[in-house]
Amino acid sequence: MAVRKILYASDPKLRTKAKKVKVFGPQLKQLADDMLETMRVANGVGLAGPQIGVLQRIFVAEIPEEEDNPLSGKPFVIVNPEIVKRSDEMEEGQEGCLSIPGWLGEVNRHRSIEIRARTVTGKPIKMKVSGFLARVFQHENDHLNGVLFVDHITDPEKLWRVQTDDDDAFVFEDMNALVV
Ligand code: NI
Repeated sequence: MAVRKILYASDPKLRTKAKKVKVFGPQLKQLADDMLETMRVANGVGLAGPQIGVLQRIFVAEIPEEEDNPLSGKPFVIVNPEIVKRSDEMEEGQEGCLSIPGWLGEVNRHRSIEIRARTVTGKPIKMKVSGFLARVFQHENDHLNGVLFVDHITDPEKLWRVQTDDDDAFVFEDMNALVV
């Protein structure tokens, strides 16, 4: 496994729609393993292909273990996802992004979603996720379409700066320009 470089939001690859994965083989498995390792090293709960410069429809996710959530504490590799159902119920929650270090925001997401996707070996799967994991899946799925969490924020008060220990943290030059 190898840790890949995470691109910042200023990189045009993060604004590009990723292509469907067509080849399921050892290279894809290697990519998925690298993505999981990169995500864990960066203390993230999700990572999408475009964030490491791979414009393919793949993301990984792993949220900390929660008592009443059997899907928590497990790594997921999701390939060619399609959100086939979205709950009417919405929920506001805090989000950050490994490509936008030093910023957090309040984002409205569907409380639960149903997705169709493929596993890393190409097996079709259908999953229903809710709560925090549904938030992560929606955030990562957005990355595959060149969408960032800040795009969902229209109220500048719902996006704020946080301290990071990374001196190279990406800083928006003009926050308002991105809050559209
Ligand atoms: Ni992100």
